[in-house]
Amino acid sequence: MATGMGTQTVLQVSGLSTIYPTPRGNVEAVRGVDLALDEGDVLAIVGESGCGKSACLLSIMRLVPHPGRVIAGSVMFQGRDLMKLGARDMREVRGRDIAMVFQDPMTTLNPAFRVGDQIAESLRVHGLLPGFPASLARRSRAREREMVTELMRQVGIPSPETRHLEYPHQFSGGMQQRILIAIALACKPRVLLADEPTTALDVTIQAQVLELMREINETTGTAIVLVTHDLAIAAEFCREVAVMYAGQIVEQGPIDAVLEDPVHPYTRGLLRSIPRLGERKPLTPIMGEVPDLAALGPGCSFAPRCEARRPCCDISQPELVAVDGRRLVRCHARRD
Ligand SMILES: Nc1ncnc2c1ncn2[C@@H]1O[C@H](COP(=O)(O)OP(=O)(O)O)[C@@H](O)[C@H]1O
Ligand SMILES: [Mg+2]
Repeated sequence: MATGMGTQTVLQVSGLSTIYPTPRGNVEAVRGVDLALDEGDVLAIVGESGCGKSACLLSIMRLVPHPGRVIAGSVMFQGRDLMKLGARDMREVRGRDIAMVFQDPMTTLNPAFRVGDQIAESLRVHGLLPGFPASLARRSRAREREMVTELMRQVGIPSPETRHLEYPHQFSGGMQQRILIAIALACKPRVLLADEPTTALDVTIQAQVLELMREINETTGTAIVLVTHDLAIAAEFCREVAVMYAGQIVEQGPIDAVLEDPVHPYTRGLLRSIPRLGERKPLTPIMGEVPDLAALGPGCSFAPRCEARRPCCDISQPELVAVDGRRLVRCHARRD
């Protein structure tokens, strides 16, 4: 369902399924997710906390923490299935071709190293700077500093000529996230996976970081997957949205269509739970709780919370099918 300006598919995810084994049983964090991303696409994945958004991105990157694992599916990138690559090839893809930005910058940046050195390290890993011992030569040190400060400038960090010598704690949360984006961009990736990159930031800074990602998308054609629990951010930033619930995509389509006329009862509930600009009406959160992904029943996983529930909803799982020619919906009670 790629709808961006590019025509070439850069990433094709099919039937992706991931579990986390636990003493209670296998948590089915991702259940048969399909996604296609064209060059220049900006896709939002939205859904409540715990619905499998992070697990989905980590699966694509093959970074699911042990003992979690991908149990099915393929991720095609440049003619290769990433799920079948050897560890070394996969390390090359990570960063060089597909980069990821996480929610909390401080957990990713190393507090003990200067930010300039951390950006340089990323350039070195991707072969854009010579490795040790060549990097000790004076000329390559100068070249290194030039590339690092240029990247810092690109992501809007003021005075990079001096600030590249500073440590992460000397930067605000927003600036730290910019540094991480600089690291992610060091290799000019074809795809950027951003997992709630602005959640830890205040609203003004949030807008600046999103604006930065938009610029990158527009100038380089880097396709972006933005995971967020915030529909307002998705609306602002993305052309296409996939709504996730209990490890599955339940509705996907152009952002305008989904926001103006949501079909899935879960999407409708999510929309009711966000304030509209200038509106003072109390929010209506969705009743009930996200189901236990280690104990899913045979029916629709949203049925226990659903306003449109029918008898069949407890018996069988709905398929993801095309509705009104523009989007996909997984619901027994959908209109056709
Ligand atoms: N390391 C882990 N071990 C066991 N379960 C996990 C682990 N990480 C995530 N989960 C479970 O997987 C499901 C999906 O989690 P996650 O992908 O983090 O959701 P989201 O990013 O949408 O908030 C949740 O039920 C969560 O509790
Ligand atoms: Mg998450």
